Amino acid sequence: MTAYQTLEIAQDGPVRHVRLNRPEVRNAFNGTVVDELQHAFAAAADDAATRVVVLTGNGKSFSAGADLAWMQEQANLPEADNQVGAEHMARMFLAIARCSKPVVARIFGHALGGGTGLTAAVDIAVCTEDCLFGLTEVKLGIVPAVISPFVMQKIGAGRARTLFLTGERFDGKEAERIGLVQRAVPTQELDATVHKYVAELLAAGPCAVASAKQLIGAVAPLSLEDAIPVTSRWIAQLRSTPEAREGFAAFLGKRPPNWLA
Ligand code: COA
Repeated sequence: MTAYQTLEIAQDGPVRHVRLNRPEVRNAFNGTVVDELQHAFAAAADDAATRVVVLTGNGKSFSAGADLAWMQEQANLPEADNQVGAEHMARMFLAIARCSKPVVARIFGHALGGGTGLTAAVDIAVCTEDCLFGLTEVKLGIVPAVISPFVMQKIGAGRARTLFLTGERFDGKEAERIGLVQRAVPTQELDATVHKYVAELLAAGPCAVASAKQLIGAVAPLSLEDAIPVTSRWIAQLRSTPEAREGFAAFLGKRPPNWLA
């Protein structure tokens, strides 16, 4: 497995753990982290043995967002170079959001700026109740630009108005209430709750999980009418796949499906 400077990767059977590993700066991300996260998620997508990716961080906080020292250096570059760098970062979030394997995030401490962006980019986010989130960019004189589509997909434009404009911090319970995370739990329940979601994902058909993820992306922008040809074709194609045949046969045969073997 590739060795990274800013990430720790561990494989536990079908589960790949990706840990941000810059605890001395609260897992703030610089250009190396951006490159490495993009690479790590592409590698997880390509690895047939990996069925679920768990994203977390080492140290006190999940992530303090973009590395502000790195941002300051970037500010001295010409605008065109800045745009290339920002696009590269946007593609890192996209690599997570579009990863063909489901991504679960284990979030604690702080998830500020791009840390909130990472939370929004994953499929299932679980955090501690006292974890602090925030689109704090305006407090630094910037805006949460590249993460905005990911965050707005989760919380909607209405809630984004308050949070983007004020930069206020909010806790895990509020993050759960507004749909940024799926569950906010007491710290001692964090690992068990992540494990529960991972177990649910592993019990489902691997191709079906990947297809469900694509389905959401394909259907979200469509009207109810325009969705009909897309969704009917989708299920017609899926019903005859080997995995679906196995799923039906296993249920009717009162036995576990072979992907659990
Ligand atoms: N970029 C670069 N360095 C950062 C950082 C960031 N986003 N966030 C934290 N650090 C560094 C601090 O400068 C400090 O470095 P030092 O030890 O050399 O002084 C170290 O990480 C620890 O941070 P500290 O503030 O002492 O830890 P804390 O646990 O008390 O607070 C945070 C943690 C995350 C609440 C606080 O560091 C913070 O508010 N960071 C900025 C978050 C932010 O606004 N992100 C949006 C970026 S667009």
